[in-house]
Amino acid sequence: MCGIVGYTGTDPGLSALDVVLGGLRRLEYRGYDSAGVALQTPDGIVMLKRSGKLARLTEALEAEPLPAAVTGIGHTRWATHGGPTDDNAHPHVGTGGAVAVVHNGIIENFATLKAELQADGVDFASQTDTEVAAHLLAREYATTGDLSSAMCAVARRLEGAFTLLAVHGDVPHTLVAARRNSPLVVGLGEGANFLGSDVAAFIAHTRDAIELGQDQVVTITPHSVSITDFLGAPVQGKPFHVDWDASAAEKGGYPTFMAKEINEQPHAVADTLLGRTDVAGRLTLDELHMDEQVLREIDKIVVIACGTAAYAGQVAKYAIEHWCRIPVEVELAHEFRYRDPVVDQRTLVVAISQSGETMDTIMAVRHARELGARVIAVCNTHGSTIPRESDAALYTHAGPEVAVASTKAFLAQITACYVLGLYLAELRGTKSREQVGEVMAQLQAMPDKIAKVLQGLDQVRRMARWMADTRSVLFLGRHVGYPVAMEGALKLKELAYIHAEGFAAGELKHGPIALIEPGQPVFVIVPPPDEPHSLHGKVVSNIQEINARGARTIVIAEEGDDDVVPYASEVIRIPASPVLLSPLLAVVPLQVFACELASAKGLDVDQPRNLAKSVTVE
Ligand code: G6P
Repeated sequence: MCGIVGYTGTDPGLSALDVVLGGLRRLEYRGYDSAGVALQTPDGIVMLKRSGKLARLTEALEAEPLPAAVTGIGHTRWATHGGPTDDNAHPHVGTGGAVAVVHNGIIENFATLKAELQADGVDFASQTDTEVAAHLLAREYATTGDLSSAMCAVARRLEGAFTLLAVHGDVPHTLVAARRNSPLVVGLGEGANFLGSDVAAFIAHTRDAIELGQDQVVTITPHSVSITDFLGAPVQGKPFHVDWDASAAEKGGYPTFMAKEINEQPHAVADTLLGRTDVAGRLTLDELHMDEQVLREIDKIVVIACGTAAYAGQVAKYAIEHWCRIPVEVELAHEFRYRDPVVDQRTLVVAISQSGETMDTIMAVRHARELGARVIAVCNTHGSTIPRESDAALYTHAGPEVAVASTKAFLAQITACYVLGLYLAELRGTKSREQVGEVMAQLQAMPDKIAKVLQGLDQVRRMARWMADTRSVLFLGRHVGYPVAMEGALKLKELAYIHAEGFAAGELKHGPIALIEPGQPVFVIVPPPDEPHSLHGKVVSNIQEINARGARTIVIAEEGDDDVVPYASEVIRIPASPVLLSPLLAVVPLQVFACELASAKGLDVDQPRNLAKSVTVE
């Protein structure tokens, strides 16, 4: 939610504006209702900002070019306080225009601070909470003459969530930033340094970065990085190296990031499985650094997550309970946090998040730890808040996910949770090493099967194009197919703005069947025929029931499963797999369907309306 980028360098041939705009382009997934830049020049701060997507800003910059500069900041916005107008776009300047500030987060006490500043005669040019920080910073700098300590003083006065990044006309070659509850990483270049909401902001220039902790202020010049707490005491940042490069963050010939990311899913799963076994074939999770005895003693697992990550958790629940015989609850992070959950030292909380910055999940992680639970983060983003604030982290290796609607991260999250489940099962003795090895081998076969699904989706693409005018689509699934159905519905809502619902197929007769009328499209995810609980037959009966009421049944079934054919308007085939692993295949046609249908409607697949990828407000 809101993307921030800052750059200062010594190379006069590298324009700060180009670096900042390049960073904003890669961060636009974080918010795209307005954008702006501020540059430091010998004549002071110059600035341009526009409502709308980044393209509107770049057009304006062509019409009104800014002077050359080697130090600058930029922002792409997802509006919270104040609508998406030119005035509310960031940067905001303090009185006199010498300091410019960009912000990600919400300053909760802004109304009190604004009243105080107004009482002192300060005029406000926007409705944002951010402008308060700009005026406070201008005032503090006027008193202390030191931008870093002025930022510390401002940060101490603010409540809520903020990453603030500032540049001052009188302090050349310097950027100062503060972070609390919102993301910020430092990029380390040669004679140049960077700041960004995530490493994508500067990945075209460097893969070396530093994580910042909570409540820290960082000051960068082209040759130095210094970090302090909010009181000004020096602290050490944690360096890390990014294992993907700028090309991974580009579309690579695909029409959209989403199409690219869907096609990267075989790699996302394969890479997430890499290096998880030792030479003896034993599952090892060295990166967990968690006491094995603690893991043996846990008596409950609670998965907390939001959106697609929560559906990955719901899939994982079936597998972990089956393998480990530990009760698993899956809860939306925002609900968990505020309902007095029953959690103690013997509870293992698994926080799933692609970005590692979802505020609802961060708050739930903090609450779980306060209650004494151990927290393992399943996360795709190094340097982000959720793994840093958890007891341990298990990284998915899906690579950067840019499209707002999550796809490859979902498959990688399921895979990582399965690896965790198998590890716990072996550790706790509910599965033998051989049994765990068998499932690992089945998991290792999944990337090829996912690739096969991806090769055979012309039928889905055709269907999506015919169905571009559809107003409602239902999704049915059972067992692990149920969260897949909900994820299929979520993709369609997010991307195509169509009413879509996912139901447990067994629940159909208790209500949703009333929705079925002639022509109603219904996707049905059919469990494999050799699934042990005879669910296959029950789902086939459900298909008959809705078929008899005139539904247009689109059935996702294993190759060779002919029981479904008489009642299906369309059959989409996926390769045979054990039932617990089948979500890794069954969800793929649903992702492609949503992506194609939205494209057929002429919608922006990567940046759907009203959404943002990383939701850093509660
Ligand atoms: C937002 C995104 C979803 C995502 C969810 C959780 O709502 O639009 O695509 O699934 O956040 O994000 P996380 O980064 O925590 O996995």
